Amino acid sequence: MRAVDLIRRKRDGGELSAAEIGFLVEGLTDGIVPTYQWAALAMAIVWRGMTTVETAALVRSMLHTGTVLDLGDIPGPKVDKHSTGGVGDKTSLILAPIVAACGVTVPMVSGRGLGHTGGTLDKLESIPGFRIDLDLTAYRRIARECGLVLIGQTAEIAPADRVLYALRDATATVESIPLITASILSKKLAEGIDSLVLDVKTGDGAFMSRVEDARALAESMVSIGRAMGKPVRAILTSMDAPLGRTVGNALEVRESVECLRGEGPADLMEVSLELAAEMLLLGGVAENRAAALDRCRQSIANGSALDRFRRVVAAQGGDPGVCDDPLGVLPRAMRLETVRAERSGFIGQFKAWSVGQASMLLGAGRATAEDSIDPAAGIVLVKTVGDHVAAGDVIAELHFNPPFAAALPAALEMVARAVEILPSPVRRPPLILGRLG
Ligand code: URA
Repeated sequence: MRAVDLIRRKRDGGELSAAEIGFLVEGLTDGIVPTYQWAALAMAIVWRGMTTVETAALVRSMLHTGTVLDLGDIPGPKVDKHSTGGVGDKTSLILAPIVAACGVTVPMVSGRGLGHTGGTLDKLESIPGFRIDLDLTAYRRIARECGLVLIGQTAEIAPADRVLYALRDATATVESIPLITASILSKKLAEGIDSLVLDVKTGDGAFMSRVEDARALAESMVSIGRAMGKPVRAILTSMDAPLGRTVGNALEVRESVECLRGEGPADLMEVSLELAAEMLLLGGVAENRAAALDRCRQSIANGSALDRFRRVVAAQGGDPGVCDDPLGVLPRAMRLETVRAERSGFIGQFKAWSVGQASMLLGAGRATAEDSIDPAAGIVLVKTVGDHVAAGDVIAELHFNPPFAAALPAALEMVARAVEILPSPVRRPPLILGRLG
């Protein structure tokens, strides 16, 4: 087999066999197929696409470049959730303890934030002492003891994806449904899960801004998951406005603790509970959606979800006091500036992309994968879509530390521009846009 012949075939719209895809993926990992050939192949895949059979072969090959964990020795169902990413999306921190408290183990391998979107690992690392770089022995132990574990991708999990994702990032080949499907599923199926719930986001702040594209991605992941013998369900959710009231790592942990205490904002609770309920259904511990939602709500009301969070924070080296006194335990920014309403009216839009960008400028996110972040920085939405404001009311707070002060004027302008104030009342559009699988 020669890589050049396979690239040519894909370039001309032909199909690759499972053996050929395996050769290319293994070749990438062991250096036999150089990255420049994979760059050309990735571009050919962006243009020509892949059949379901080819995509499944790509997932399988990428998955088997690393360790595929077997958590069969942990009793009960094991279900994870993956989100395609958004602004203010802290649902993992809320739903993982809820689902664990309801009897389903959540072994979660997450990523960092990039660009305007946040990442679960950065949020968790804002808890003093919290470690996400655990080895697979600790991963198993904590999953068994706490019912949930939250770590970063290790060198053993889908190594082909690490190389390929960096290559795609640098060659404008991220936007391909088969390549995204393979990237996400190869990592998630290595975790040792029985089934997976996907939160596929669409709208202004999402990676897929058009709902048709988000649906096509969801369909691809559901059907490939099924072809590989893993039940996968997807929920399409809106990412036009940030989820909840906070954007930025420590701020989002504080809001997640509030949600686990039953004091969370309605939009964030709605999405978190929908996803959690879907996980209970896939795990087979609830008969229908109403019963699943009820169990999730009970786990908050009786404190068992917060207790799971406290246990996992302590098990992963973090300060469990974050559950009792988040303001006292989490880092806080030294400076705060506000954005005020220019006129009276109702907030029609609070555009997620601009809020995410502004938060990144203040140090809460990274422009390149190598950047470091400030865990205390971020934005609090004092008002959100549907709220009434009088002229001069505070709409948003910008939290930042002195090294990022130079970015303040640009961040203030971005947040001000993200808000649209309308003369008549506005209803927040639906957050749950569809279900697949
Ligand atoms: N997230 C991933 O993990 N991979 C992609 O290709 C895109 C988003």
